[in-house]
Amino acid sequence: MRIGVFCSGGDAPGMNACVRAVVRTARASRHDVIGIRRGYQGLLEEDFHIGTDGSPLMTQRDVSGWGRHGGAFLRSSRSEEFRSAAGQQKTLDILEKHNIDALIPIGGDGTFRGATDLVRQWDGMVIGCPGTIDNDLVGTDCTIGFSTAVQTAVEAVDKIRDTAESHERMFLIEVMGRHSGYIALFTAVAAGAEVVCLPESVGSIAVLVDQLNVMKNRQKDSILLVVSEGDEGGGAEKIQQQLESAGCPFPMQSVILGHLQRGGTPSPEDRILASQLGYWAVVSLEEGHTGAMVGSIAGQRVLTPFAQTSGGKTLPPSLMELIGVMAH
Ligand code: F6P
Repeated sequence: MRIGVFCSGGDAPGMNACVRAVVRTARASRHDVIGIRRGYQGLLEEDFHIGTDGSPLMTQRDVSGWGRHGGAFLRSSRSEEFRSAAGQQKTLDILEKHNIDALIPIGGDGTFRGATDLVRQWDGMVIGCPGTIDNDLVGTDCTIGFSTAVQTAVEAVDKIRDTAESHERMFLIEVMGRHSGYIALFTAVAAGAEVVCLPESVGSIAVLVDQLNVMKNRQKDSILLVVSEGDEGGGAEKIQQQLESAGCPFPMQSVILGHLQRGGTPSPEDRILASQLGYWAVVSLEEGHTGAMVGSIAGQRVLTPFAQTSGGKTLPPSLMELIGVMAH
């Protein structure tokens, strides 16, 4: 088989470990691997990884040491051109020109929407690996990058707690998660934040102010509120404005953690998950599977059709309960 592998959408720590696993697994069974740079856009531009031997076929040595590095050595992008009918026809022609039999895209929901379109029109096989810090894909306990992003966010929130305590202030800390509160909820629990605002639950500013008054009366003098960027309140700064107008009893400051959550050395959990999923992706192709994302649920390989991976991942209710109890 000739397999193309690429990273697409927002980069996530562990993507390199996943590419390494795909290359090593595929080469062990003598499959050829083409590393496609810059996701679907790179495929459209025939932008392939060229190894030290000058060949576009990746070798085991090309991925030496990749497992421990953040970012995406193959680069990543979001492609407008691929979404058009003309872009997809061009993609089909390029796949045929380079005799590519199968693709392994590593990315999130946008990547898998693209993969769904491809599977409809192409007679090759496609198995995706979930790579996004958001952990918003159904069919896997965790996505590649989530564990590291939470670790990064928790380290930042711990530091903000020091200054919040020193100055007896409340901080609103905005974390990533376009439509999902996973990073916010896990960060809030791990860092001991008093409040969390999530896209999955609709909150009221008046109720929040009541809760903050109760905390003030309990002699709490520093408050951390973790806000998911996807929260309906509109992010940390907008929530701060609304709280100010509604009479919040604490002096407030907002911090947006932003893209620092996407970088950094992948955690051991992400490296292990990425290695497992990259291996399983190749095995799944060898078994003839296509049109699906490979995930890990309770340590077992699970294949979920691309169309069923987005939009339905629920947060663990037990963790949501924990926030309120721990804030006392
Ligand atoms: O999908 C991952 C993610 O980091 C989201 O959490 C965030 O909303 C988005 O990507 C930001 O994307 P970009 O950096 O491409 O604007």
